[in-house]
Formats: sequence, C-alpha cells, structure tokens
Amino acid sequence: MPLPIRIAPSILAADYAKLGQEVRDVVSAGADWIHLDIMDGHFVPNISFGPDVIKALRSHTDAYFDCHLMISPADAYLEAFAKAGCDSITVHAEAGPHLDRSLQAIRALGKKAGVAINPATPESTLDYLLDKIDLVLVMTVNPGFGGQKFIPSMEEKLRRVHRMIGDRPIDLQVDGGIALDTIALPASAGANVFVAGSAIFGGRHVDAYRKTIDTLRANANEGRG
Ligand code: DX5
Ligand code: ZN
Repeated sequence: MPLPIRIAPSILAADYAKLGQEVRDVVSAGADWIHLDIMDGHFVPNISFGPDVIKALRSHTDAYFDCHLMISPADAYLEAFAKAGCDSITVHAEAGPHLDRSLQAIRALGKKAGVAINPATPESTLDYLLDKIDLVLVMTVNPGFGGQKFIPSMEEKLRRVHRMIGDRPIDLQVDGGIALDTIALPASAGANVFVAGSAIFGGRHVDAYRKTIDTLRANANEGRG
C-alpha cells in the first residue's frame, strides 16, 4: 500500500508580513502539511526564521508542521524546535558528524524524525538509519533558496531510495523546483510528500492556492499511475 500523497507548501515563499494569514489560507486551500524551512546562513547561504516564528504560527492552525532544518550544528536547537510545536524535524545528513544521535534526540523529544540528503549526497548514507526514521527528504535542488530548477538526475536517486525503504512506513519527500509540470516525475519514482514554495505562494491569493494544490495533487496521482 503506497503512503498517501501529501502536498506541503513551504512558507519560505509566503508573504512574511502576513504569515499567520498565509498559513490559514494555504490550510483552507487543502495543504496537508506546512513545510518550515529553517536556514542559518552557515549550512546554507541564506537566513530564514527560527523557533519563535513557528511558535507564533502554532496558534493559527492545527496543521502538521514539517520542519526542515538547514542548520549546522543542529543538535543544540532540536528541543527549541520541538517545543515550538513542530510535528516532525528533519536534519541534513551533511550537517554534522553524529546523525544517528540527532535522530535519536528528535524521537526522544516525541517528534517524527527525518533525514535530508543534498543532491550530491549518495543514498547509501541511509543504509544504517532506515529502522530509525520516519521520513527521507531527497533534495531536488541545492538547499538555500526557493524558486530553483528541479534537478532531473534526482529521479534515479528517488527510485533507489524508494527501493531501499521497501514496505517500511517511511515518507519519501521531495523539495525544490516542484511545480505543476515537474511533480509527476518524482511521484512516478516513489515520492509521496511534495514540498512546493513558489509554485503555490506565487499565486498570492487563496483561490489560486487551492487551484494549484488541487492540480499538484492530481498530477502527482497521475504520475503514480
Ligand atoms: C530550499 C527549501 C525549499 C524551498 C522550495 O532550500 O528547502 O523548501 O522553499 O522552494 P521552491 O518550491 O520554490 O523550489
Ligand atoms: Zn525545505
């Protein structure tokens, strides 16, 4: 049984001046998860927002908060993100020397644990982790910015990771360059969680968000075949 398709808008592309409203709008437009991109200006060449912003957004919705940490080191901040109200926390395999420890710490905080791998990182890094994680995030752009182009060679990596996961209940997430015309490919390769920033929030209105989310879902289903 394939895991359900989930559309996860990234608020990195939302209007920061009205973030609470943007989150409510995208949830009412059919978003399954809210994707929270945390950037530190060190692991990635950009800075976004931190746990206090997430805490403030928590009062606007009960939606699932999917937190993608693009920070290094991550361990010292896991508790703050857990307390802020994240439901899952994903750390990058490249962000520190003790990935297994970071994942244990996330689960000990009562949260779902995810591993993200950059485009140049081989999937073998997951070999000894598959029984300890809830999500794998295959980056389909180099992390740091929204609005980049989907890297087509990630299709092969997705197929391999999908095979590695087998029938474990692990979500396979893609992030970067996911849009109406690119979502079918990763869906056909086994991804079930789709992050989209500019493709959704570029619409700038709740009606456009709904239309885009519906079409993304339809195209992902079609890609699945
Ligand atoms: C990239 C972030 C993504 C980004 C996706 O570093 O992790 O979540 O917001 O943006 P789009 O969908 O515009 O490529
Ligand atoms: Zn992300």
